[in-house]
Amino acid sequence: MAIHPEAQLLNQLIDQEHPQLGSALSSFGRRVYAPKGIPFQAQQASGCKVNATIGQITDGKGQPLPLDRLADLLKGLPAKEAFLYSPIQGRDRCRTLWKKKLVAEDDRFSALSLPAVSLGICHAISMATDLFFEPGDTLVVPDLYWDNYDQIFEVRHEARMIHYPFYEGSSFNIRGLQQAIGQVTGKVHVLLNFPNNPTGFSPTLSEIKQISEILVSEAAHRIVVVYCDDAYHGLVFEPTATSQSLFYELIDRHPNLIALKADGVTKELSFFGGRVGFLSLGFSGTIGQYLNEKICGLIRGSVGSPVGISQYLSEEELLDPRHESSFRNLKSILEKRYYLLQEGLSKESPFWTALPFNSGCFCLLRLKSGLQAEKVRQQLIQDESVGVVSHKEHYLRIAFCSMTESDISILLKALHRTCEKILLTH
Ligand SMILES: Cc1ncc(COP(=O)(O)O)c(C=O)c1O
Repeated sequence: MAIHPEAQLLNQLIDQEHPQLGSALSSFGRRVYAPKGIPFQAQQASGCKVNATIGQITDGKGQPLPLDRLADLLKGLPAKEAFLYSPIQGRDRCRTLWKKKLVAEDDRFSALSLPAVSLGICHAISMATDLFFEPGDTLVVPDLYWDNYDQIFEVRHEARMIHYPFYEGSSFNIRGLQQAIGQVTGKVHVLLNFPNNPTGFSPTLSEIKQISEILVSEAAHRIVVVYCDDAYHGLVFEPTATSQSLFYELIDRHPNLIALKADGVTKELSFFGGRVGFLSLGFSGTIGQYLNEKICGLIRGSVGSPVGISQYLSEEELLDPRHESSFRNLKSILEKRYYLLQEGLSKESPFWTALPFNSGCFCLLRLKSGLQAEKVRQQLIQDESVGVVSHKEHYLRIAFCSMTESDISILLKALHRTCEKILLTH
């Protein structure tokens, strides 16, 4: 298929600056470019006396003309921020504040371009796969993973998935990861998500460094694309578990190692419906800006433009002097539930084994033989009015992030009764 001259130009720049990145792009990734269409031309005319470019309804002087109820509801917000379009690449203030936050976590981020704004973290991962995943490519991901990766990688991109057991003993299975990558010759994609959904597990900092060494050495002879899904960043409850992202260990480590970080306000600012995510690339220099141009093309051709109002609200949260303490309060609410759940699960059960967890929002129980997760889940709803998620055949995921402290023991007792009843009737 013909490639637009603008895309050809952008590809040439990428190929010159970073040939490995150029070759890592999927054929769709190579076709995508930032069009010089309406938003681009409107941006160029933004200082003009008369701006007859963009199709947003204003008073002619740049102020929106909202309808009454919406204006009432949002009257505490500056009308322009609340009602008008965001730039395609996201609002500068939003991107800059997020970068500032990431640099404060690790100074290695300071050399990188501003992250691109997405519509939530799922969208950030999905855009990354649009850029790098060719149909039939292989994804290496542990056997316990967020089920939506099936949609993103398998359904959208016809991925071949290679799994390895998430745990080795009570740690993350670093050897399993290495062996699984070793099974793939040529370009390989690797996804790592810590704190993890569904296990609620994070490795130690030294394990994160070991993982990064493996990824760097695997990149010695072929392209390795690494997706760091940091959706639950910061929600870590044990001193042994690190809240440091693997991504930072991958910045500028090898030209063949394409490191991508997907994160966002969903959990970190507890702003689930806000739909603000970010996608960052782990190379310094202008290459990050070129990638952002590709992302502008993806945004333009899918969701049109990101959500302006929730970027504005997220910026205000990040700028608020109470932000740090507010996050600490939120974390301490989860922490109390986490410890209660750990305590409740510390007694051995005849019906399940709790897998190690130390962070995030979830824990995973492995049901003993004879108990089907889906059957237990349905019975729990029916008999006990308790909802959990069944995962594969034998696992139940408990989201302690959405339960009260007192509901924890209610849930565990109800689960015990239900498992007992199912086994008795067999
Ligand atoms: C591991 C993981 N990644 C990404 C997401 C998606 O986040 P968002 O709602 O911002 O798209 C979730 C949400 O549940 C998640 O569990």
